[in-house]
Amino acid sequence: VAVRAEAGAGGGINPAIRKEEDKVVDTVLTGELAKPLTAYCRCWRSGTFPLCDGTHVKHNKATGDNVGPLLVKK
Ligand code: FES
Repeated sequence: VAVRAEAGAGGGINPAIRKEEDKVVDTVLTGELAKPLTAYCRCWRSGTFPLCDGTHVKHNKATGDNVGPLLVKK
């Protein structure tokens, strides 16, 4: 599997999301979702992290990457 994601400073992929935490972990409890469909960011560039705001489109165009959100359906 080829990894084409843009590396951040020091080789990391997360450039700015919740850097004060040792590990960024988000839990999805599908039975408690208010919306029938929720999109979670996997590119680490969303302005509404952990939710996808479409920023991955700009990231993919700039880097040739192909990341997209995790879709969780009720
Ligand atoms: Fe990160 Fe959409 S903004 S996956």
